[in-house]
Amino acid sequence: MPETCKLNLDGKEYELPVVTGTENEKAIDISKLRATTGYITLDDGFANTGSCQSSITYIDGEKGILRYRGYPVEQLAENCTFTEVAYLLIFGELPDEANRKNWWDLLTEHELLHEDMRHHFEGFPATAHPMAILSAMINANSCFYPHLMDLDDETFVDAAARIVSKVRTISAFAYRKSMGLPRIYPRPDYSYTANFLHMMFSLPNKDYDLRPEVVKALSELLILHADHEQNCSTSTVRMVGSAQANLFASVAAGVCALWGSLHGGANQQVLEMLQNIRECGESLDKVVERAKDKSDPFRLYGFGHRVYKNFDPRAKIIKKACDELLEVLHIDDPLLDIAKRLEEVALSDEYFIERKLYPNVDFYSGIILRAIGIPLNMFTVMFAIGRVPGWVAHWREVHTDPSGRIYRPRQVYQGENERSIAPLEKRGA
Ligand code: ACO
Repeated sequence: MPETCKLNLDGKEYELPVVTGTENEKAIDISKLRATTGYITLDDGFANTGSCQSSITYIDGEKGILRYRGYPVEQLAENCTFTEVAYLLIFGELPDEANRKNWWDLLTEHELLHEDMRHHFEGFPATAHPMAILSAMINANSCFYPHLMDLDDETFVDAAARIVSKVRTISAFAYRKSMGLPRIYPRPDYSYTANFLHMMFSLPNKDYDLRPEVVKALSELLILHADHEQNCSTSTVRMVGSAQANLFASVAAGVCALWGSLHGGANQQVLEMLQNIRECGESLDKVVERAKDKSDPFRLYGFGHRVYKNFDPRAKIIKKACDELLEVLHIDDPLLDIAKRLEEVALSDEYFIERKLYPNVDFYSGIILRAIGIPLNMFTVMFAIGRVPGWVAHWREVHTDPSGRIYRPRQVYQGENERSIAPLEKRGA
């Protein structure tokens, strides 16, 4: 017997189906609500709204659980490479030996950008934010590969590999452009992450010294960012994709959403906040007081999360990776000390305890990126490189859903009632 719930409206009783997920999470199916009752639901910020049914990522925010396709993120970070995790997210299973090799070969085949794209890089000012360049260049792929706009199963694999592979080349080229440095082309014998570091930091006459610990830390960081179900940027990708927009256009829109300081842009904000605390010598108690003051727009960046009301599991892994990397690289970063002390002060403050505000993934990721030598304005780009496989997987889920409809929320209108246009001379200021 399918589960239902009852709703009383205007003296009438309606029965609404209840949908149960594979982890037993419950949702009231209101898809026929407007047609049967004339009402819509109102949920500012969508905090109580399931916008879709998805089989990609599971989060339990109360328990601090994050799984991709059923695998705990802790296990994936420990045992897999970023490209394996990308494959898992996009195709649903971890690759076997043959698929792993094919996927690697495809990523290698597509790592170069179309040569004509270099004119685009030349047109951007050196001061351009790399996130702006990234979204523009991802979208520009639609111009170069028009045959990939309408995808069948086979061309989807090709398009997915192109976007996952090229995003790191575009990102590294954007950085080189901003530094006035020559572009370094990828090497087919390097792994995904090693190649990115090579394109970022090698010189034409000197290869970057690839330390395995750095490659591993970066790969782990990308894995932790690879998907996070219906966050702002992923919902954007799904929304744009639901209009049958192509993969490149949809992912470019995701990059724009991620850029915002309340989303992926928070990792840059965290580091700026820590640097500021250091430079101004502001006491941590005062910083926390400011974060609590509703009349002050300042927030404690890297704290709080819409879904996690417990430790963000990614923050735990990153904090450990951060300690390990700094030790191997013999880096004594005063910002890490400030971050740890700030965490202590915030976690023992009643405001943060009451609201269940814990460090999120961005709180420590900036320290790792800084240790690797990634400049501040590239932090959100690193998040985007990690998130591309998740976006691709979600775009595909939307496209292959036979009952899929264009995403089109409703609203409750609170504006003027109908009125007539007054002649110009009679209109008040
Ligand atoms: N500092 C101070 N107060 C905060 C913070 C913070 N970082 N985060 C939430 N709060 C407060 C809110 O003002 C609200 O207070 P109120 O109940 O008195 O009105 C209360 O805590 C509850 O907030 P939520 O409803 O949980 O916040 P929401 O879901 O709307 O926003 C968000 C979540 C945007 C992540 C928020 O916590 C925030 O701004 N954090 C700082 C930015 C950040 O780190 N973003 C990265 C998120 S992770 C990611 O995108 C990868």
